[in-house]
Amino acid sequence: MLKKTAIVSLFTFIAASYMAQNHTQPVYLDESKPVEQRIQDALSRMTLEEKVAMLHAQSKFSSPGVPRLGIPEFWTTDGPHGVRPEVMWDEWDQAGWTNDSIIAYPALTALSATWNKKMSWNYGKALGEEARYRKKDILLGPGVNIYRTPLNGRNFEYMGEDPYLTSKMVVPYIKGVQSNGVATSVKHFALNNQEMFRHTSNVNVDDRALYEIYLPPFKAAVTEGDSWTIMGAYDMYKNQYASQNQYLLNDILKKEWNYKGVVVSDWGAVNNTEQAIHNGLDLEFGSWTNGLSAGTKNAYDNYYLAKPYLDLIKAGKVGTQELDDKVTRLLRLAYKTTMNRNKPFGNIASEEHKAVAKEIGEEGIVLLKNQGNILPIDLNKAKKIAVIGENAIKIMTVGGGSSSLKVKYETLPLDGIKARFGKQADVQYARGYVGDIGGEYNGVKSGQNLKDERSADELLNEAVTLAKNSDYVIFVGGLNKSDFQDSEGNDRKSYGLPYNQDHVISALAKANKNLAVVLVSGNAVAMPWIKEVPSVLQSWYLGSEAGNSIASVLAGDANPSGKLPFTFPVKLEDNSAHQLGEYPGQKDELAAGKGKDQKNPINITYNESIFVGYRWHDTKKIKPLFSFGHGLSYTTFEFGKAKADKTVISAGDTITFTVSVKNTGKKTGAEVAQLYISDLKASVPRPAKELKGFEKVYLNPGEQKEVSFTIDKTALSYFDAEKHEWTAEPGDFEAQIGNSSDAIKTKVKFTLK
Ligand code: BGC
Repeated sequence: MLKKTAIVSLFTFIAASYMAQNHTQPVYLDESKPVEQRIQDALSRMTLEEKVAMLHAQSKFSSPGVPRLGIPEFWTTDGPHGVRPEVMWDEWDQAGWTNDSIIAYPALTALSATWNKKMSWNYGKALGEEARYRKKDILLGPGVNIYRTPLNGRNFEYMGEDPYLTSKMVVPYIKGVQSNGVATSVKHFALNNQEMFRHTSNVNVDDRALYEIYLPPFKAAVTEGDSWTIMGAYDMYKNQYASQNQYLLNDILKKEWNYKGVVVSDWGAVNNTEQAIHNGLDLEFGSWTNGLSAGTKNAYDNYYLAKPYLDLIKAGKVGTQELDDKVTRLLRLAYKTTMNRNKPFGNIASEEHKAVAKEIGEEGIVLLKNQGNILPIDLNKAKKIAVIGENAIKIMTVGGGSSSLKVKYETLPLDGIKARFGKQADVQYARGYVGDIGGEYNGVKSGQNLKDERSADELLNEAVTLAKNSDYVIFVGGLNKSDFQDSEGNDRKSYGLPYNQDHVISALAKANKNLAVVLVSGNAVAMPWIKEVPSVLQSWYLGSEAGNSIASVLAGDANPSGKLPFTFPVKLEDNSAHQLGEYPGQKDELAAGKGKDQKNPINITYNESIFVGYRWHDTKKIKPLFSFGHGLSYTTFEFGKAKADKTVISAGDTITFTVSVKNTGKKTGAEVAQLYISDLKASVPRPAKELKGFEKVYLNPGEQKEVSFTIDKTALSYFDAEKHEWTAEPGDFEAQIGNSSDAIKTKVKFTLK
């Protein structure tokens, strides 16, 4: 009995001392306390200097926590297609680590082209796991700037021309990444729709276009996706730089959308302390990025939100209200990331990650044309296969700017094709042309030697001879990640394919009628040879599994189901920004040499307003080369007649449209049912139709499924700039359902009371 009492009191003693210990734990470390209380406690313990230190970088990609209090540093990383390799503390040079290679996922255009929200979640989760494993807290992506011109060098990092598609596709990515305790930083907020003059331009856009076209993906990212951070852009809006912009950051983001997260500047996008303090920026990165050559001992202390800020506070010129708000936001972020004890550990380059990359690649590839069902390749007939074109052998994960990666491996298209077909067919390669032989970005080398001294004629002759002597020709070309192509910092110089590829393709089409053209690019290109070529695949940049995904679609192992996330105009002038706008800036200012530096910025006016992409082509009846939403399959589908559950709705109602989709062909495949809404009579100009719903349906041969879409008046509304609110005008509307913006299969009318 006595013994038992002794044991009980020993336990009581241990428990009491454990609790006492726990009680002495400061509130900011006490996980049982509400986060907002922990934040207040941490804030109350911090000195002025510690608070200011938190607001700016301490190295290229990290910012300090509070060392004295044990609040960890934040480590950021690009983004958005894989985790960037480590660079030096203060320089852009490679740190030379040997454990920082990763899996590269398909570029965001490819993800968007899957039109499959599940793929987006898988992408985010896998990428977030790699970021977590690499001990990163903030992933600098995804990018959701709208595709306004095919010349934008960074379109491959974005999700296309439609605000609805982009909004729906970006949210699961964010949730997937953040499920790892790693924040996303949705970028670049806002209006960074071209690379040329990105540091030296002021964008003029009307409020309707701003709210209907350019803002929705950001709004979805922060309100539905709850992205814990957002990155400001480089360009100016209303003559103020976006990363320190009263209208974008305070009025819209933080007030209208009630954003509680952290605004991170783009790297080097800040240039004014007062504006950075007052206009909503929370965390400054990349100032003095030119090798820290500001001429001071510690350039980080001279960031706009560093010593200059501290001096203003100490001189009593600014208060500490903004400072506390910024630090509060950073601490909130810390509790979700660095100080989150419940986050998973992550993992890297798992078989699952490889499978995710391959599947997204397969689902994102778009079969643009397939005359005579040239694809998939019939191995009973194709005994000799010729693979031609530089992109069949060129590494694409190195280059393109900040999204450049150091990969564990990248399967090249030629290798993927050989692996898939090599046992049954004789696969031969010829280059056909020489384009870009470079292969280095920021110290990461592709390790390829692509030098070829032969003349253009020699290369072409070799390719044509091979094509003639083969049963089947696969041309793999397109763009690449070198400057002035699909690459950050510059725009493309022209809409056509570079390196005389048009000529090569035409010559191959003459040599062999069994020709499939595979375009590797993140942008639309002109196709003057389209009538000569029976089959075209748009393959994007597909990352580590590129060659395997392409081969799988060529062989028909995967049935293509990708749909274009942007319009391919026939010619550049058919695009609204080029026909109406003054790309790359206002003509007179361009002629006067404006845009050369920040003292002489150039104006870019979005004259086309809301008429971007298919909204322009459809309304103006300008036939595109390939329309938004287009993409073929190896099987065929039939849409039934759409039905609505009501014919008249009032403002508070929802309406549901139902349509059947049937696989009428011989292969299992997937079709994307796309719902567009057309306002039949409006008092303001409206696009002919706008995407308001989509669903990917997987069907076996002969199988039929019902797809339904429920919308409410938000899908009928336009942004009334004068009233600054969304308005749905009573009257007649039409729901148009099809499998591309230019292939509407069934329509149903309804009325809004
Ligand atoms: C790019 C960002 C990128 C950052 C850090 C900037 O130049 O615009 O997208 O995240 O650099 O590398």
